[in-house]
Amino acid sequence: MNTIISVADLSFKYNNDEILKNINFEIEKGSFISILGPNGSGKTTLLKNICNLLEPYNGSIFIDNEDIKDIKYKELAKEMAVVHQNDDLDFDFSVYDIVAMGRYPYLKRFQKESSHDFDIIKKAMIDTEVWNLKDKNIKEISGGEAQRVMVARALTQQPEILILDEPISHLDIKHQIGILSLCKKLNRENNITILMTIHDINLAGKYSDHIILINNGKIESIDTPKNVLTEENIEKVYGVEVEIINMGSDKVPYIVPLAI
Ligand SMILES: Nc1ncnc2c1ncn2[C@@H]1O[C@H](COP(=O)(O)OP(=O)(O)OP(=O)(O)O)[C@@H](O)[C@H]1O
Ligand SMILES: [Mg+2]
Repeated sequence: MNTIISVADLSFKYNNDEILKNINFEIEKGSFISILGPNGSGKTTLLKNICNLLEPYNGSIFIDNEDIKDIKYKELAKEMAVVHQNDDLDFDFSVYDIVAMGRYPYLKRFQKESSHDFDIIKKAMIDTEVWNLKDKNIKEISGGEAQRVMVARALTQQPEILILDEPISHLDIKHQIGILSLCKKLNRENNITILMTIHDINLAGKYSDHIILINNGKIESIDTPKNVLTEENIEKVYGVEVEIINMGSDKVPYIVPLAI
């Protein structure tokens, strides 16, 4: 296995609260991985550890076999782009300027974007359907538009690894499929590793190679969607009774809640 992310014996505390408890897993380069789990189970905390925004009190994270603590900020930003769950967009910048900031790791101090940078920015904005918003103030767009703008910014970093924390939570169904399909295309055609959290279990099952199911700061199950998304696991982790239907020729598990 060509491992691109390795999480070893990771434990994390906020104050004295242990939020992540001895997490271990490896992610293969070029795979599409979703992290599922209830609210407050530790998904965002895990992603923030993986992108070096939070520091574990025990354990290590390796990116391409290098300890994340030894990777310089700009180098990490070329390797990994992150779309956060709640980005504070309270700036006086245009949508275009916000997306263009993704090119920062490639520019020298005070260097302006070149026409090559412009082409990358424009393509990312067209792919995420935000090019028409380019001159608007970032404060004056909708929640779903802002989410797509942040995906566009991450794409301009041209990362090997794309980390997304609930990238479709504010999107309508067309744009949900649009963003997930774009991630799948980048994954298949450019071998970009995708690691995302997502609350839609059925979409996670449809798009992911593997699912990491987290419960209360521990990994409950990590495997293919078929093996993770079982009635037992869903009931144990979410406390909800469901029936699983296997959809289509590839038998993707589809979760139907039993209670109304
Ligand atoms: N800055 C913080 N300080 C203290 N505790 C925090 C902080 N951020 C999160 N927590 C706590 O850590 C736990 C895990 O939070 P986290 O945001 O990782 O959950 P999550 O699985 O991403 O949830 P959601 O599905 O709601 O996004 C929660 O109990 C939360 O209250
Ligand atoms: Mg979260």
